[in-house]
Amino acid sequence: MKLLVTGGAGFIGSAVVRLAMGQGHQVVNLDALTYAACLDNVAPVADLPGYSFVQADIRDRAVLDTVFAEHAPDAVMHLAAESHVDRSIDGPGDFIDTNITGTYNMLEAARAHWLQAGRPKAFRFHHISTDEVFGSLGATGQFTEDTPYDPRSPYSASKAASDHLVRAWHETYGLPVVLSNCSNNYGPYHFPEKLVPVVILNALAGQPIPVYGAGENVRDWLYVEDHADALLTVLQRGAVGRSYNIGGENEARNIDLVRKICALLDEKRPKPTPYGDQIAFVTDRPGHDARYAIDPTRIATELGWRPSVTLDQGLERTVQWYLDNEPWWRALQTRDGVGQRLGTG
Ligand SMILES: NC(=O)c1ccc[n+]([C@@H]2O[C@H](COP(=O)([O-])OP(=O)(O)OC[C@H]3O[C@@H](n4cnc5c(N)ncnc54)[C@H](O)[C@@H]3O)[C@@H](O)[C@H]2O)c1
Repeated sequence: MKLLVTGGAGFIGSAVVRLAMGQGHQVVNLDALTYAACLDNVAPVADLPGYSFVQADIRDRAVLDTVFAEHAPDAVMHLAAESHVDRSIDGPGDFIDTNITGTYNMLEAARAHWLQAGRPKAFRFHHISTDEVFGSLGATGQFTEDTPYDPRSPYSASKAASDHLVRAWHETYGLPVVLSNCSNNYGPYHFPEKLVPVVILNALAGQPIPVYGAGENVRDWLYVEDHADALLTVLQRGAVGRSYNIGGENEARNIDLVRKICALLDEKRPKPTPYGDQIAFVTDRPGHDARYAIDPTRIATELGWRPSVTLDQGLERTVQWYLDNEPWWRALQTRDGVGQRLGTG
């Protein structure tokens, strides 16, 4: 298949690009190369035949039309987005423009291409979204695909709006869409402003390891390479118009996650005092959702997909990857806002 992947120079998109190329697909990687992008993430496949890169902004409809006309993809995997909740608190405008208007442009460009090609049944528009659209859970319960939307941050509200647009384009125009909503990802090539890399890199630098509030917030952690595998499964075998929740079956409180990472570093890069001594509790994020947890029954029973690693296995691989790839993260630490506390409201 020829896949048009948007946001393929980001964290999850690049994992999709690497895996899709490995599975023998052709990939057109469309990315605006914002602060969050890094083309090194796709270096392992960038010279292979069947891969091409287009620097383009999904806010620019005219450019999208030329990309569809030139490359005539069989399917779209739409990951391009502004993705950092803290940045959405400081500057929601970019989230509205890229996540909502950008998705609208992608839908319209894809629809025009699909109509022009004679409405091929096999065409797919796969919209990649987040479990944050469902809001926040108490101590029990899980998000299913039928959980009502209740987004609470500018980021999650913009993603919720984009999900609604995608469903509307299916219902109204018949565009063959699939959707997926996943939990927090972690793994190699994670941009160094997100929790897991912040913990690893602050620990290694001898800096305080910031934990928001009391560290009680619970997330359901999904290894990024498992997520990429799930996404290609949904794309190829998911039912048209249906959405799939993707989770790692690995709930952890933030403080426990941080302690696990510190323990791995104690083993792999020992120093006289434990890394856990650097943990520092800082003011919580405004509106910080208490708990997310995914019920993965649908993707497991209908598509036979399960995550391949536990949280302990995935964290071990991740910590080792950061230890082995210092030039990658050092280069990104100079980007605007990285290493600063953002989103305090
Ligand atoms: N990271 C997570 O834990 C997580 C969880 C659930 C869902 N998601 C969703 O998965 C997708 C990818 O997330 P990620 O963590 O890889 O994000 P990321 O921030 O690492 O990457 C986003 C990519 O999109 C590109 N981009 C941003 N604005 C663009 C624009 N206007 N035009 C073209 N490209 C643009 C960036 O340059 C970047 O390469 C997003 O849609 C996000 O909402 C992420």
